[in-house]
Amino acid sequence: MGATVKTLSVDKDRLLQRLVSLGELGAIEGTTGCARLALTDEDKAGRDLVLTWMTDLGLKIEIDGIGNVVATMPHDSQSPPVMTGSHIDTVATGGQYDGTLGVLAGLEVIESVITAGVELRRPLAVGWFTDEEGARFAPDMLGSLVYVGGLAVEDALLIEDSNGITVGSELDRIGYSGPAPIPGRRPHAYVELHIEQGPILEDEGITIGVVEGVQGISWTEVKLTGQSCHAGTTPMRLRRDPGVVASLVNVFVRELATRFGNSQVATCGVVTHVPNLVNVIPSEVTMTVDLRNTDENLLRRAEAEFLEFLRSAAQAENVTVSSRQLARFEPVEFDHRVIEIVERQALLANLSSRRMPSGAGHDAQMFARICPTGMVFVPSVNGISHNVNEFTHPDDIEAGANVLLQTMLELAETDFS
Ligand code: GLV
Ligand code: MN
Ligand code: MN
Repeated sequence: MGATVKTLSVDKDRLLQRLVSLGELGAIEGTTGCARLALTDEDKAGRDLVLTWMTDLGLKIEIDGIGNVVATMPHDSQSPPVMTGSHIDTVATGGQYDGTLGVLAGLEVIESVITAGVELRRPLAVGWFTDEEGARFAPDMLGSLVYVGGLAVEDALLIEDSNGITVGSELDRIGYSGPAPIPGRRPHAYVELHIEQGPILEDEGITIGVVEGVQGISWTEVKLTGQSCHAGTTPMRLRRDPGVVASLVNVFVRELATRFGNSQVATCGVVTHVPNLVNVIPSEVTMTVDLRNTDENLLRRAEAEFLEFLRSAAQAENVTVSSRQLARFEPVEFDHRVIEIVERQALLANLSSRRMPSGAGHDAQMFARICPTGMVFVPSVNGISHNVNEFTHPDDIEAGANVLLQTMLELAETDFS
């Protein structure tokens, strides 16, 4: 690679401006956050905007039957591309950076390379993958899971949201079902830039996280059914209260995480009571349990203990219980060669870095199944994410995008045997 390539850098202002413009779609009033749940009108607006930028740049656009969009730079060869990307859907209380940074920084990398007229051995591509968040349709990373052949598209299209609306009908409604092949083309390599979404980089004053892998994820939805009755007249000994069981489960998984130690986390993010009234014992509670661990054996033990406790707590309260798995992904280790390139590029740019696991799920963990894969993290202020106050400093965004750029350039020249 010549000197031009080594000194090439992204246009920070253009990247920041695009992040703001995309963040305005689905904006949550009075905040800097956004709500673009997968396949909603807001998600469609975000997709349309990013698609316009990609088309204006002359990229070849391919859309598949789960709504993934991949844009590849023009190139003489038929070589598989070095791919980057992420997602533009958000949770309902999302910020401006989760996912969008990876997509827009990828676009910025490609625009910088095209503008500078740099010749590469392999093309670069940037994609966004449907429903990474899983906040509307479970599991998370749905689009990238289908892309890599981990789930049949026919099955994915039948997945319903909490109102019984399917992925397939929403894709058709917003016009994002395309003919690109599934599973998708295997990239030469995949690398994704993302905000850390946790407090470690900021706490240690480090700019670049060199991601070694992603912890395992287990999501379970639980339905508890008891007997709704009057809160004043029903003696405690005669109650069948599913709310009490849900509370006990919540406390149990918190204690389990403490007992297992650092690598175990546990969250009950949804606890919905019916009828949800001050003076009525609930008849039904729906709750979710999110368990994660970098160690698959420990994660299995956590799941087994949680299910056993759930069964016995429900039995003790004479409440019926049913559960279904919403998502289950084993821990993933990224390719050591990609990890080393990211680390070296951070060093060459005089940026501080540290190796770390990812606590959040990412599309990269799906691509790790089919090609050499890695990730770059940049700090999240106060470690806040999945929250309207999510923020990453512009200088860190620029630093991360430049590490992504140089990593992609090096990957484009690297042969993997
Ligand atoms: C996705 O954002 C997840 O880790 O839940
Ligand atoms: Mn994300
Ligand atoms: Mn997220």
